[in-house]
Amino acid sequence: MAEIRNIVILTGAGISAESGIDTFRAEGGLWEQHKVEDVATPEGFARDPDLVLRFYDMRREAIQTKHPNPAHDALARLDQHWKGNLLIVTQNVDDLHERAGAKRVLHMHGTHLNAWCTACDAKNPWTGTLADRPPCPACGTNALRPDVVWFGEMPYEMERIYAALRTADLFVSIGTSGAVYPAAGFVRDARSLGARTLELNLERSQGSGWFDESRQGRASELVPEWVDTLLHK
Ligand code: NAD
Ligand code: APR
Repeated sequence: MAEIRNIVILTGAGISAESGIDTFRAEGGLWEQHKVEDVATPEGFARDPDLVLRFYDMRREAIQTKHPNPAHDALARLDQHWKGNLLIVTQNVDDLHERAGAKRVLHMHGTHLNAWCTACDAKNPWTGTLADRPPCPACGTNALRPDVVWFGEMPYEMERIYAALRTADLFVSIGTSGAVYPAAGFVRDARSLGARTLELNLERSQGSGWFDESRQGRASELVPEWVDTLLHK
């Protein structure tokens, strides 16, 4: 197989499923418990900010009690030992990649760890209850929202992501349904730029047909297996 030096990994909710964090589109997933337009759009926030703030307070509390699973641990191991370029682009707002020890992580949808002040635009680490309308640590205004990218908003650091895709020799997608753009299009971008592409997912996703190889199974098994092969090649 051609020399692999630069790797881009895309992760979605599926990599955190075995840590006990609900995915979005599975049976009983987040989008069955809550209407997307009510809790994950700017319009929903404008309509009922308390509902949205409570939804994210609940998600933050749930995430804080969870732990990385062997899939996160394997990617952290790869990050620590991989001599070439490596970027883990996650759609997830949990911090399980970082808590497993991964360093080269980019949160394209933001993270539950930060609050964003809609008055002064400051972003600060946050663990409190946003529904209590606490003052912004920077300007004191009670105008904090979660620093999470909602439907219709621009994802973060797209230029950095496309720069990494341009030089990628290997693009690996883990635990995402391929339902939401622009993340769902990264495999096509990577292919057109010459990268090999691999999907590791519980079931075939909406994008499976675009991958050179698509393996179905649980991330906690598929990811350590793939990382071990790559590191001991
Ligand atoms: P999109 O239109 O590509 O979303 C496609 C899918 O998202 C739809 O198939 C549906 O499943 C869902 N969706 C999107 N908007 C919806 C709505 N109003 N009601 C119900 N379902 C909806 O997504 P987008 O609006 O173009 O998103 C723009 C950016 O926001 C993308 O980068 C996306 O990844 C991001 N995003 C972030 C979150 C989050 O919770 N962090 C949620 C959604 C989207
Ligand atoms: N191992 C591997 N894959 C899994 C596992 C598992 N244990 N459990 C679930 N999956 C797969 C599912 O088969 C599904 O394809 O993970 C995927 C999760 O898909 P979604 O619930 O749609 O989550 P995701 O793809 O991350 O959603 C993308 O949409 O709602 C927005 O912003 C939100 O970031 C999210 C984006």
